[in-house]
Amino acid sequence: MKIYCTQHAGFCFGVKRAIKMAIRAVEKEKKSFSLGPLIHNQGVVEELKKRGIIPVSDINEIDEKDICFIIRSHGIHPEILEDLKNRNFKIVDATCPKVRRAQRYVEKLSGEGYFVIIVGEKDHPEVKGLLGYARGNAQVYYENMEVKYKKVGIVPQTTLDIEHLNGAISKIIPQVIEMKIYNTICNETTLRIQEALEIAQKVDLMIVVGGKNSANTTRLYQICKKLKPTYHIESVRELSPDMFKGIKSIGLAAGASTPKEQIKEIERYLKKLSC
Ligand code: F3S
Repeated sequence: MKIYCTQHAGFCFGVKRAIKMAIRAVEKEKKSFSLGPLIHNQGVVEELKKRGIIPVSDINEIDEKDICFIIRSHGIHPEILEDLKNRNFKIVDATCPKVRRAQRYVEKLSGEGYFVIIVGEKDHPEVKGLLGYARGNAQVYYENMEVKYKKVGIVPQTTLDIEHLNGAISKIIPQVIEMKIYNTICNETTLRIQEALEIAQKVDLMIVVGGKNSANTTRLYQICKKLKPTYHIESVRELSPDMFKGIKSIGLAAGASTPKEQIKEIERYLKKLSC
């Protein structure tokens, strides 16, 4: 059994940076919180919890003082940021610079009188945060959206694939007079998708490793499964030899929030199986 592993599997720059900042913060501040898990990977979140980085689902859950609040790589809604500042929490802003750039574009477009359409997942924390920067002058794109505005600005979620963006643009363009697009799709996402696609074309089966709650990992899975049978797994424990009967080649891909060690573990398992 041949195993092909993508070169760009594992943490992206923004996730690495956020984890580093959070660890540095907790070493100094002792207790730190993040709104939602710091990254979409259960194993890593558990490790971080042991170090004192606690995810909460609502900032009102925190009634302690002198704590540090870490903003995840996805960024945060500006009103929540204000709220955190008003509560005098120490803030460590680990918003990925690429997400921050997208937030600035949303703010700029809205300020210039464009109605902002965010192309992405409406429930994703990055998208919720982006919406906040338009100060009510924005909406998340949905299938067959009727656009009432003649002047629109488009900002894609950083982890969107280009096909989705193109699809949305082609639907919106006939409805408007003026359209301004900022391409905020992150190249880390694009690289992972391109590589996974190349590998998927030459193997019998794909395995995509990473959190089921991770948007970019789930997207990789959806893209790969259009080409080849694909498993989306979070841990090596989900694999069993009978899943590979008759399989001669396997491709291994992972999202931007999957630690290298988790990928290596799966690679080792597959290598053992093929001996
Ligand atoms: Fe940032 Fe791109 Fe990662 S936007 S968080 S470097 S996938």
